[in-house]
Amino acid sequence: MNVLVLGSGGREHALAYKISQSKLLDRLFWTPGNGATEEIAENPHIELDDFESLVKFARENKIDLTVVGPEAPLVKGIADIFDENGLKIFGPFSRGAMIEGSKIFAKNLMKEAGIPTAEYRAFYDEKSAKTYLNEIKPPYVIKADGLAAGKGVVITEDKESAYKVLDDMFEKKIFGESGTRVVIEEFLAGEEATVLALFDGESIVPLISSQDHKPVFDNDRGPNTGGMGAIAPAPVVNDRVMQRVLERILLPLKNSFKEKNILYRGVVYAGLMIVDENPYVVEFNCRFGDPEAEAVLPLLESDILELLLLTAKGRLNESSLKWKNGYCCDVVLCSGGYPGKYEKGKEIHGLENLKNRDDVFVFHAGTKKVDGRLVTNGGRVLNIAALGDTLKSAIDKAYRYVDMVSFDGVHFRRDIGYRGLKHL
Ligand code: AMP
Ligand code: GLY
Repeated sequence: MNVLVLGSGGREHALAYKISQSKLLDRLFWTPGNGATEEIAENPHIELDDFESLVKFARENKIDLTVVGPEAPLVKGIADIFDENGLKIFGPFSRGAMIEGSKIFAKNLMKEAGIPTAEYRAFYDEKSAKTYLNEIKPPYVIKADGLAAGKGVVITEDKESAYKVLDDMFEKKIFGESGTRVVIEEFLAGEEATVLALFDGESIVPLISSQDHKPVFDNDRGPNTGGMGAIAPAPVVNDRVMQRVLERILLPLKNSFKEKNILYRGVVYAGLMIVDENPYVVEFNCRFGDPEAEAVLPLLESDILELLLLTAKGRLNESSLKWKNGYCCDVVLCSGGYPGKYEKGKEIHGLENLKNRDDVFVFHAGTKKVDGRLVTNGGRVLNIAALGDTLKSAIDKAYRYVDMVSFDGVHFRRDIGYRGLKHL
């Protein structure tokens, strides 16, 4: 098979790396890619919003499957266009991608389907939103309706700040038009976890659970980031919780897609709050999580390409999943200043002795090759993922390798997996 991977983060490196090991693979292409792309794939250097060139490339190179990493092209309808051109693609059509593209769509769907989630109201003007704030108790959870690159959610105890957020969204339009529709919802107190599940329209195949760490500093302090590290599986998602996720969330979601005539072939990301072993949906995404993918995929024993292909063909019922025993811990190394302003172009040292092998993985995110040197090229720069028989051994191993890598300004969390350890 010839395969094309779309994206440029650690998630896409993890996907491309696993695909590169598949027995089914002939040629692997990966665009726009990053500093690791040429190690395992050919890079046609096409941007993700250039659908016309992507379709042309897929046709001319006889691509059997295109695997979409990030949400933006899916929300914009890349799967629809590939399908119209007779090209197989892993990722939902734009109507299905709405579960991530519109919070209001997702919340309404959950309500109709009886999927547990925070109580909420949708607002289309600032005045009614502010009036509602006066009726409810803090913490206030305010969410822009559309895609906002992970910045569209504000949680605050303080009403003045909440008012200011609404001003920013409705008047200053900091998230554009899609931010002039907002959801205000109930605050849920519990432990967060992620369950990814493959959907093909008929069958659901849940992957092992995982847990991201969003705030930038240890002990979950500081502003939220795209994710500072992840573990898999997440101990808070025990068998009972997983069963509830399947019965209360994934099955009703599948039925709701059917009722709405939405053919969903790809992965569903269920971002959960677990409250006393009861899972509530905080958000749905239409793609793999990043960094969750970097912790989940190293544990996958089965051929990932076969799995992605069966999903895209609507034949998931023929799949069988095998996982390695033990745990994976993935630590994200970031540029100084991230998630605020940061500089690029810092040379990365220490990766020479660190090649991907059975139990340790380096997944590149914001990296770039310049004259043979590897330099930083984004906020989240590198992932180091390690497997261990126990969660503790996976964490210790990951940090042993993290400490071998350096670049000017590097920072990372020292406590990835701390909540998981408390359960064990
Ligand atoms: P979202 O983009 O909707 O996942 O929100 C980003 C983050 O805000 C989540 O990962 C949670 O940590 C937090 N969050 C969102 N909604 C809620 C809620 N209703 N209650 C508590 N925390 C929330
Ligand atoms: N790790 C959070 C996300 O992928 O949305």
